[in-house]
Amino acid sequence: MFRTHTCGELRPSHHDQTITLAGWVHRRRDHGPLIFIDLRDRYGITQVVFDAADDAAVHAIAADARSEYVLKVTGVVRTRPAEATNPDIATGGIEVKAVAVEVLNAAKQTPLMINRDGNEEEPLRLKYRYLDLRRERMQRNLIMRHRFVKFIRDFLDKEHFLEIETPILTKSTPEGARDYLVPSRVHEGEFFALPQSPQQMKQLLMVAGFDRYFQIARCFRDEDLRADRQPEFTQLDMEMSFVDMDDVLDVVERLFTEMVPAVVPHKHTLSPFPRLTYSEAVERYGSDKPDLRYGLELVNLTALLANSPFTLFSSAVQSGGQIKAIRIPGVAAYSRKQIDEVIDIAKQNGAKGLLWAALPADGAELRSSFAKQVDPSEMQAILTACEAQAGDMVVIVADSHKVVTAVLDKIRREFASRLNLADPNLLKFAWIIDFPLLEWNDGENRWDAAHHPFTAPLDSDVGLMDSDPGKVRAKAYDLVLNGYEVASGSIRIHQRDVQQKLFDLLGISRETSLLQFGHMLEAFEFGAPPHGGIAPGIDRIAMILADEATIREVVAFPKTQQAQDLMMGAPSPVEEKQLRDLHIKLR
Ligand code: AMO
Repeated sequence: MFRTHTCGELRPSHHDQTITLAGWVHRRRDHGPLIFIDLRDRYGITQVVFDAADDAAVHAIAADARSEYVLKVTGVVRTRPAEATNPDIATGGIEVKAVAVEVLNAAKQTPLMINRDGNEEEPLRLKYRYLDLRRERMQRNLIMRHRFVKFIRDFLDKEHFLEIETPILTKSTPEGARDYLVPSRVHEGEFFALPQSPQQMKQLLMVAGFDRYFQIARCFRDEDLRADRQPEFTQLDMEMSFVDMDDVLDVVERLFTEMVPAVVPHKHTLSPFPRLTYSEAVERYGSDKPDLRYGLELVNLTALLANSPFTLFSSAVQSGGQIKAIRIPGVAAYSRKQIDEVIDIAKQNGAKGLLWAALPADGAELRSSFAKQVDPSEMQAILTACEAQAGDMVVIVADSHKVVTAVLDKIRREFASRLNLADPNLLKFAWIIDFPLLEWNDGENRWDAAHHPFTAPLDSDVGLMDSDPGKVRAKAYDLVLNGYEVASGSIRIHQRDVQQKLFDLLGISRETSLLQFGHMLEAFEFGAPPHGGIAPGIDRIAMILADEATIREVVAFPKTQQAQDLMMGAPSPVEEKQLRDLHIKLR
């Protein structure tokens, strides 16, 4: 046997046993005749003692070993005396007295300190990702991610879901991003597209009768990257037949509710998940992915101030806009400079400014940016509507619906963070339902599908598809978690005529729809069952479970924000011959 135990395994119960460990030199402390090496592997860290008095040759090897050398150590387990135990590590009750040691491999000085959490620039971490991944935090994240995915597979298996793989070389699917294309060598001038999601395949699997499908599916989207986006990412892709929305939400809700204690037992969640309509979420939180761990709800002052003599208020309402406020507790003593910072948040999000009123905690006189413009009774009405108390500040935005919403969403998130309002161990899931079916695309002057063009309209709204398309609500739902959208799905259209009607609304010509989705339209004519599904984003949820700020921290080999792999050096130029084989000439 190469090793008898791992570096995380030994306890006082192993006292006096001769064991063999293998691992990396995590830390070495040289006290002359005594050398201590913390030997590390995936399972933990064990302190090994090399005593020159026991064996000078073995001690000499330890004296030469450096950080990240790979060692095989045979030794005897010794229980540590009480005063020498290390409560910080699981093996802290013992140490190993080395009897033999072998250097399995030396290591150059590493560009990253493995035993210190990295505050180096991310590009360095990504270039040497295999070293970065040796760190405890990254190992913990990837192990947690494994448990998370394993839990999903076991849970869905019990629920009679089948895991079915779908192709990576496929045809463009309309999830709204740019495709990654793969040129065909065999068919000159033709291209595969990498799937933005397996959307069409999973619907066709329902037509094929599989009834309950899932896949831990890789998706590819050439889109602008952000902290919670990667060009390739992983979805838990799911689809079910003979279901309505409640059936889909029920499975997913049980999955995540049971997942939390099993995978992240130090965290907790609350069931049932609340359901908010899209318009309610936007009205109360200024976002369709609100963080519901805290209040800070928006207060709508539009009706109250529509006829205000203060023209900033009345003109915003007259031009179709809104007036909304947030009461921020305990910040009435903010300095001018601090208030200016808040105003800057508003400006960065499109507002011309931000109005504020602060009620000092000591009962002193009100401070406000607009006290002179309104009479005291109107000011009082505002404060009352906001339920402001001594010590609070009220901030108000009067602008278009879009600007008011964007600004107050940002301000709400900012103050939740400044005031530590969110319980970091609470996983607050919620469903957002009744999304609009269509979104007006100003640039292109046409309707876009808000989710994707296979999403069914609410039965009650089908009539509006002709008369008032913007009002049609969809059988679409999102799962949000602590302020992130973590899953999206819908009940699908399964009748060809409704599908055609939607394509017409989206301005997709009969010709194009046949060319792009002919296989779907045809499939719907061979007895397609009613079906629906959802796709939780694995990376995004893992990021939240791991308390990380970017999904790159839960992906083994992520791309940078510029969609590059710094370790492999991809993308990269290719040989002229390869291009010629693919019938490609670079411009
Ligand atoms: P959607 O496009 O909303 O829906 O994606 C579903 C979920 O996938 C995650 N996600 C991403 N994660 C990381 N990087 C990205 N670039 C990225 N894009 C999306 C998010 C998101 O909520 N086919 C439909 C689902 C369905 O209708 O069943 C779809 O893909 O967590």
